[in-house]
Order: sequence, then structure tokens, then C-alpha cells
Amino acid sequence: MEQPWWRSAVVCQIYPRSFCDTDGDGVGDLAGVRAHLDHLEWLGIDAIWLSPIFPSPMADFGYDVADYCDVDPLFGSLEEFDQLLEDCHGRGIRVVLDWVPNHSSDQHPWFVESRSALTSEKRDWYVWRDGRDGGPPNNWRSAFDPEAPAWTFDEATGQWYLHLFTPEQPDLEWANPDVRTAMHDTLRFWLDRGVDGFRMDVIHLLGKDADLADLPADQASGGVVGSNDHPSSHELIRGIRKVLEEYPGDRMSVGEVYLLSTAKVAAYYGNGDELHLAFNFPPLYAPGNAAAWRKRVDRVVEELASRDAWPTWVLSNHDNPRHRTRYGSEARARAAAVLLLTLRGAPFLYAGEELGLEDAVIPPERAVDPGGRDGCRAPIPWEPGNDHGWTAAEPWLPWPPEPDARNVTTLREDPASILHLYQRLLAARRASPALQLGSWDALLSPPGTLAYERADGGDRRRVLVNFTPDDHVVPLDGEWTVEVAADGTAEGEAWTGALDPDAAVVLRPSGP
Ligand code: GLC
Repeated sequence: MEQPWWRSAVVCQIYPRSFCDTDGDGVGDLAGVRAHLDHLEWLGIDAIWLSPIFPSPMADFGYDVADYCDVDPLFGSLEEFDQLLEDCHGRGIRVVLDWVPNHSSDQHPWFVESRSALTSEKRDWYVWRDGRDGGPPNNWRSAFDPEAPAWTFDEATGQWYLHLFTPEQPDLEWANPDVRTAMHDTLRFWLDRGVDGFRMDVIHLLGKDADLADLPADQASGGVVGSNDHPSSHELIRGIRKVLEEYPGDRMSVGEVYLLSTAKVAAYYGNGDELHLAFNFPPLYAPGNAAAWRKRVDRVVEELASRDAWPTWVLSNHDNPRHRTRYGSEARARAAAVLLLTLRGAPFLYAGEELGLEDAVIPPERAVDPGGRDGCRAPIPWEPGNDHGWTAAEPWLPWPPEPDARNVTTLREDPASILHLYQRLLAARRASPALQLGSWDALLSPPGTLAYERADGGDRRRVLVNFTPDDHVVPLDGEWTVEVAADGTAEGEAWTGALDPDAAVVLRPSGP
């Protein structure tokens, strides 16, 4: 049976503000993405996911949407988006947009209308309530500031509105059928233009407790932890899935299900009628050691395989310190990349990780994000020299460390670079049904290491990862050849059994 494209795909997340500025405002734009499609095609990714490009006051850098059906002039125009889509499709690269359904911007015309009067026809498009004892309606706290209520009082109408994130991000009332219809139409707007799917922001938050009951005190802080995973989210997601299925060509949904339990995440695949894919963050937060990773991988195997749900793997994104920063060295980041690209499921890269970028150091006067996530959003350096392939305008955030060495041009010239490692890993994946779609079975290996086999019909690969600074010996039955090595050495040579500190290898059976 032919598999949908997203099962074998490697998706690269692009944070458009930070990819490349072409119009001289220090903020990346769609033309900057178009200008670097050669890089993405050479790297060998299958799809890009663009963080939000919609008109936005940028209180949360685009995750506060003021119009779901347009492009912010900061990034370009709808026409430029259409050109980008066409260019990507011409190169066999799919395009996934970031859809932010839980909340809009407070500047969205829907909210402006909603807050205008108690009797507004859009009053019940958002979550308005009377206060309790002179304070907010319940004890929910906002995600970015556990001290602050998830409610803001509106003087003019004397009620409070719910915002699980910043006050500039009022939550939409998904229990209202008019909201559902309007939001489904925003999907159709982009599906009609030909996009291949959506990354769905905090999708597990859509369903809310109708009574808005207080949460137990230990769960009240952080809308993303407490007031979530309401059973009604599942029905809402099934409705969204049906919209995608109105279209041909396997349009894909990948949900940000920010629940740090793989079992809970698994439920969001439904019975093949909810999300196609869901992010599973426990591995992202796993320390860089073999036992912790093995535990996370086992959970994925147990929880997802039982429902025929296809896993996802993420090491870095725009909300967390880059894994190069977390793991402390390039050697460890390289080994982690081998893991990411050879586990069973769909890997999501975060642009810049292929350069081994570390988070930027952000001086306090340049900090701009309400959630303190600026470091991992630093601009991508394309060249050595002053502007690194951007314009002369100072970029909106400082450069990451060593931009003269860690930039696309310089690393492309060095076959031993981490950039070339990513390219070889992606090529190896593409050439191997076992790596793309095959089974996953753990092999015995010394403590501090992980070893596993991927197999699909006659195609087999073995992967060994050393999480420690120690030498290990990993003997294997049969003859194996090094196909890809994290440090680039001994590729094409017979596997000797000696796994160096921080080493990671992909092996193929020796012989013809
Ligand atoms: C998601 C996004 C994050 C954003 C939040 C609110 O977690 O990844 O960047 O701030 O949702 O939309």
C-alpha cells in the first residue's frame, strides 16, 4: 500500500523572522526563504513548516494572528507566498503552515467586535465571564507568567476575557459553531492555494471545561499545563481533520500537543481520525543520556505502535534552547542528529541545527520575547563577513556564536562539517526504506550506548549511538559497513566494533 508522503518525510521548521532578510528591515521575509531554496533542496529535506506569516501585531511574534487569511507585509504578500509555494513544489518540497486556532490577536477584527459591547454579535466568539469576588472568574494562570491570571478585565464592558497566553492573545470559543465554521474556512483558504498541511499550535487547548472550574492549585499555573487536555478537544480535532480530507493529496496535520506524557499525546491521533502526526516533547526534554532516551523511545513504541500512529521526533524548535546548546558540544549534537534521523517516525529539524548553531547570547536590552525564548530564534548566518548574507540593517536579534565559521557558505566548503553530516544522513534516509518506514528493534549494547535495527523487507540498517565520553566496544553479528558516521570518519569501511566517545554510526550490511 502506498504510504502518505508525511510518513517518510523530513520536515524543516523555518522561523521566517530569522531565516533571511532581503528588504532591509532586519527581519527575515518570504523572499529570503525563496532565495535559499537551493540550500534546502541540497540538504534533502522533504517539506518546510513556516512559523506564522500572517498579519500580526507581533506580541508573540506571529502567534497572535490578526488575519488568518493574509500575509504580514513584514514578510511579503499573498502573491509572494504563492510564488514561494510554486517554487517549493517545483523542487519537490512541500509547504506546511503554522495555524494558531486556540487564540487570535486582540487586534483581530473578531475580537475588536467581540469586546465592543456585551450585546456584540461576536461576544460569544471569545470566552467572556463575570468576575468572582472582584477578581478573575477562576484561578487559571497564563502560560508565560505563572503569577498572572489568564484573564484580563475589560473596563468598557465590565467582564473578563480568557487568554491562556498573553493578554494580546484572547482564546477563541471553539464551543461556538460559528467559530468552528469561520476557523475551518481559514484552513480552506490556504488549502485552496495548495498548501500541503498545517502545524497546529497548542491544539490540545481547543476544548475548554464549559464550567471553567478552578484547577487544583498545583495545576493552575500555565495554561499549557493545567487547563488543557479537555476531552472535548478530540471532537473538535475530528472536525478539523474532516476539512483536510475534503482535499486530495494527503494534506497533513501535525499538532503541537504540549502534554508531557506520551500516552496523552497518543490519544490525539484518535482512531486515525484526529491528527495525522503529533509532537511528543518528552524526548526533547530528555537529558543527553542513553537510559533516558531509551525510556522515551520505549514509551513511543508502546503507546503509538499500538494504535498504528506514526511518531515524530524533535530536538530543537523556536520555543526551547537548541540541542547544540543543551547538549554542550558539537560532537554530542552530531550524535543526537544521527538519532533524530534514524528513529522510527517523522523527524522535524529546526533550521540552523544543520549548522550546529548554538543559542545567541541575548543582552537584556535586546530581549524581546515575553516567554524568554530569544536565544534559539537568532538569525541564520548565510555567509562570513559583516552582514552574513542579510542586509546592512541590524537583525532583530543578535547573531548566534561564531557566525564567521558557522554559516552556510563556510560549512558547505568543508565536507567534514556538521552541515555535510546532515546532508549525508538525509541522503541515507532517502535511499533506505528501512530508515524511512521500517521496523525498530533494540539491540543489546553497553550501558551509555543505544543500538537498534531498522528493517523493511530485505533492507536493513543498524544504528549505534554513544552518549558518553568513553570508548565502548559494540560487537555485532554479521558483517557491517559504516554508511554514515557522526564524525565523518571511516565511512565505507567495515565496522570494527569500536565506538569512540560521542560517536554515532549508521551501518549497512556489507557486501553487494
Ligand atoms: C506554541 C508556540 C509558541 C507560542 C504559543 C502560543 O507553544 O510554539 O511559540 O508562544 O504556542 O501561541
